[in-house]
Amino acid sequence: MTGGAGDGPLAVIGAGVMGAGITALALGHGVPVRLLDVDPDKLAAAPGDIRAHLRQAQLMGVLPPGVAPGELTTAASLEGVEGATAVIEAVTEHLKTKVELHCAIADAAAPGTLRITNTSSIPVAELAEVVPRPQDLVGVHFMNPPSLIKTIEVIRGPQTGDAALAAVRALAQRLGRRPIVVADGPGFVTSLLLHRMINAAADIVEQGRATVADVDALLEGCLGHPTGPLRTADLIGIDNLVDSLRVLHERTGDAGCSPSPLLLRKVAEGDYGRKTGRGFYEYAAR
Ligand SMILES: NC(=O)c1ccc[n+]([C@@H]2O[C@H](COP(=O)([O-])OP(=O)(O)OC[C@H]3O[C@@H](n4cnc5c(N)ncnc54)[C@H](O)[C@@H]3O)[C@@H](O)[C@H]2O)c1
Repeated sequence: MTGGAGDGPLAVIGAGVMGAGITALALGHGVPVRLLDVDPDKLAAAPGDIRAHLRQAQLMGVLPPGVAPGELTTAASLEGVEGATAVIEAVTEHLKTKVELHCAIADAAAPGTLRITNTSSIPVAELAEVVPRPQDLVGVHFMNPPSLIKTIEVIRGPQTGDAALAAVRALAQRLGRRPIVVADGPGFVTSLLLHRMINAAADIVEQGRATVADVDALLEGCLGHPTGPLRTADLIGIDNLVDSLRVLHERTGDAGCSPSPLLLRKVAEGDYGRKTGRGFYEYAAR
């Protein structure tokens, strides 16, 4: 098994919110990254986004001192994945997209290469039952922004091998993250709790019981939530949040996970949060 402690490049697939953030985390720890996306606009914008993440991490003093940044290369296809020590998939939260991509990754990567999905909610088992060599596949849920959040949720699928789990621990150490291993299931621990809570917060606003600012102020001021649920929704991306809620709702039947009409309206209007400049709040361009 490769992918943990070696000094080879990581392949990160998906140059959106999480792919850019995970890439910045790795580069900031001296790890070279090959970043892939099928959308040329996303790929073109990614180096600027990654520089912004690195600047923020540097300002906040969360990068290891005296470490030269890793080299970034970008690609529009899986070319180069065969040389990666680990592959981290961070593409759109759609099962079919992830299944097709993971089958292609398994074909491109050498056997024994650690393969990670950064899915928010899809059980690892749903990928593992169709992709080759499921023993190399692990869920690793980096939180947003990956450079600032030091704990990662690691999801052991039913077929994940001990070697893959050991490689994840070594990778976490290489990136200065604290791994917490949990069992598989829709939304694991964090998304099942957090996304359901954000959905309830949106419903409270929808019903006119409190304003966006007041919901966040109460959760911050009374309950110690660092950013409030609705500002967190903007950070996650409301489009991604709705995808994740749908995954949870379909698999648990929990009505609390059925996306709030307010979230659905924001997605229909293109107000995804920070990434589009407007969600529950307005944002200046970076
Ligand atoms: N946003 C968050 O806060 C957050 C946190 C933890 C986990 N996640 C999970 O991370 C994953 C990515 O989320 P995101 O917020 O970065 O989404 P995003 O929409 O910002 O980015 C997704 C990227 O994937 C690319 N993509 C789609 N299909 C592809 C393919 N077949 N090959 C290569 N690239 C492809 C898209 O072009 C896009 O750039 C999702 O599974 C999401 O649930 C998100």
